[in-house]
Amino acid sequence: MPRRGPKVKISQTRLGGSDAALSRSALSCGLYSAGSPRGTLSPSLRGQLEQALAQRFPNSTMQRSQTVAKKTIADVSTEEKTVLVRVDFNVPLDDAAQITDDRRIRMALPTIQQVLAGGGRVILISHLGRPQGDAGDARFSLRPAAERLSELLGEPVAFASDTVGDDATAKASGDAKVVVLENLRFDAGEKTGDVEFASKLAALADIYCNDAFGTCHRTDASMVAVPEAMAGKPRVVGFLVAREIEYLTDAIARPARPFVAILGGAKVSDKINVIENLLGICDRVLIGGAMAYTFSLAQGGSVGESLVERDKVELARKLLDAGGEKLVLPVDTHCGDAFSGESNKRIVPAGEIPDGFMGLDIGPETSGRYAELVRGAKTVVWNGPMGVFEMPPFDAGTRAVAAAIAESDAVSIIGGGDSAAAIEQFGFAERVSHVSTGGGASLAMLEGKRFVAVDLLDDMD
Ligand code: 3PG
Ligand code: MG
Repeated sequence: MPRRGPKVKISQTRLGGSDAALSRSALSCGLYSAGSPRGTLSPSLRGQLEQALAQRFPNSTMQRSQTVAKKTIADVSTEEKTVLVRVDFNVPLDDAAQITDDRRIRMALPTIQQVLAGGGRVILISHLGRPQGDAGDARFSLRPAAERLSELLGEPVAFASDTVGDDATAKASGDAKVVVLENLRFDAGEKTGDVEFASKLAALADIYCNDAFGTCHRTDASMVAVPEAMAGKPRVVGFLVAREIEYLTDAIARPARPFVAILGGAKVSDKINVIENLLGICDRVLIGGAMAYTFSLAQGGSVGESLVERDKVELARKLLDAGGEKLVLPVDTHCGDAFSGESNKRIVPAGEIPDGFMGLDIGPETSGRYAELVRGAKTVVWNGPMGVFEMPPFDAGTRAVAAAIAESDAVSIIGGGDSAAAIEQFGFAERVSHVSTGGGASLAMLEGKRFVAVDLLDDMD
């Protein structure tokens, strides 16, 4: 039974003038949104933001946001049509080419099933890893992904050993209902956005569907040049992309409050734009991971041998000023005298890490405070681990935060990459609202960035 998917609404907010990053970010919530007009800023919130920003950044101007709804795969008839579905089957493989996490494949099933149920065929295209050479390099083959897809679908899946060559052309025009083409990045034209390569892919199908959320921040040929080459044919988003947009922008643009973000990971520099954006829309932004030590330096603390970005201390100071009470830092640190679970360990107040020791996790008091703030929240966004969660006992802080999120009944959104791996590892993935399939893409979306690969798809009539 074909089902109706959510309408994906996309709203744009632009600022003019040479406004500071915070003003840009504070207003970039709701860039994309799914569902009815829920995604746009309410007039009162918009008014408050405009007023606050006008005081803070007198040169900034804010234009009215425009909302544009994107068509989904449920909005087009697939009967007797061939649909080119760009998926992100960039899944981790072990040395024996076994898939160690198939979530990206499982999450693409609803779109594929929708096309098949509507009487259509699918040609799936994806990249895997970052191969430097051509199809000779079996470590980057999509064949294992095609086999796993066949198991999950319970249908035969034809695999073409090339992308735009003879095998692909033959299989694409054959009888198979589901075809997977070999890794697009075996062809240099994928990364360069080559128009000729794109036009060959475009010629294979009647409809284009982007369900590759993890790759939406890229402008590779299959993401941009292919749908461009298919202008005039239907070009839609799949259910996975629609769902990611719904959680990573819509839920965030109109959050139930209190809205708490937890940001961890190694580097301030990776998260700077996310911190800025979320400071503009959250009630609290809790900081963990090694990036806390750069903040600690900015406050004049001692960090021992901890991983820090000395060239980002000034930036951390600015964020501390801009964030005020919203920005919450650890109060204690679990450190070791070596990067090892077997090291000599100490729990010390934040900013008092002795020489010869490095911070490897938030301390127990911080864990307790963060868990408490999560318990009181109605919306939680988490991106980045609190410590070295792969190395017990330094997984304790990340585990405590993950457990608090799993136990809460807040809308909970887990950014992809390490935090998605952590929530899976602890067994809590089924107890949160959404675990993103995107690493870089989920960060970009939390930064409020626009995606060309989504913008160019068909609007609702
Ligand atoms: C990812 O896993 O981040 C996406 O599949 C995109 O891959 P890329 O970072 O190699 O472009
Ligand atoms: Mg990446």
